[in-house]
Amino acid sequence: MAKISYVDGLYLHYKDSKIHIEDRGYHFGDAIYEVVMFNEGIFFDYDEHIKRLLRSLKSLNITLPISCKSLKIIIKNVIKKNKVVFGSIYIQVSRGVAQRNHSYKNLTLKPIIIISVTEKNNDYLNNFIGVSAITLNDNRWARPDIKTTQLLPNILAKTIADEKGAYEAIFVDQDDYITEGSSSNIWIVNYDNELITRNLDGQILSGITRNAVKNCAVQNNIKILERKFLKDELLTAKEVFLTSATSFVTPIVKIDNSSINNGLIGELSCSLRELYLKAMKTSN
Ligand code: PDD
Repeated sequence: MAKISYVDGLYLHYKDSKIHIEDRGYHFGDAIYEVVMFNEGIFFDYDEHIKRLLRSLKSLNITLPISCKSLKIIIKNVIKKNKVVFGSIYIQVSRGVAQRNHSYKNLTLKPIIIISVTEKNNDYLNNFIGVSAITLNDNRWARPDIKTTQLLPNILAKTIADEKGAYEAIFVDQDDYITEGSSSNIWIVNYDNELITRNLDGQILSGITRNAVKNCAVQNNIKILERKFLKDELLTAKEVFLTSATSFVTPIVKIDNSSINNGLIGELSCSLRELYLKAMKTSN
């Protein structure tokens, strides 16, 4: 397990990595976060993750208290201090510490940055299996496009999936359209071999992996349609897969009681995963 974390200006041992009880992230989920993968000194889409971090911060009127250059130095230090070769970095920025009060008007707070690293086994990169998913009503707040730590509906959904032996919970909006997974973006392939994923209409997170996979598809002349799709289209699709920083491209071969592609990993999911990982090898 990684032992050293960065907590508000200090590199601390795991057991000392603590946050004040009045941190607004702890009180209200008044914080944003990012998860970035890295392998052998190469970050997967680092700049894009940092751009989204800054966008999320701006949406919540929080200012990153250090420069992006310093942030990268700290991230590299955390990786180095833990001697991790392959893993993920977690970055969280909360509004800061203040006596509990919903409004932050007139508060001059210093945002609190924490950075931790999780080591992953190389199998994680190579193991390529089809997973199952369940569908659930999307009961999240109206701004899922902001990457906040306020993730209660997501963690409840993921736990229900887990209890049912499924890898992911896929959210369905009130009109029966798919939004996204509890921690991933969802894609389908239709019988014309077109890729379909929900457009960025504010009801999903603009996934960094989603964008990278989109670029891979465009470069390889695979047709992409960015539009809403119904739960019915999902259940009868030729292929279904999810994307996220930590799951890359992961095929979904069963949803609720429906088999997708006869329970087998689809060809397009397979090639997109390869193309994505190849692109990430040089993505710094
Ligand atoms: N989650 N949608 C949601 C709700 C997510 O939480 C995530 C990522 C994604 C995919 O985004 P990206 O491709 O940028 O990772 C979509 C991260 C991995 C997490 O919460 O751990």
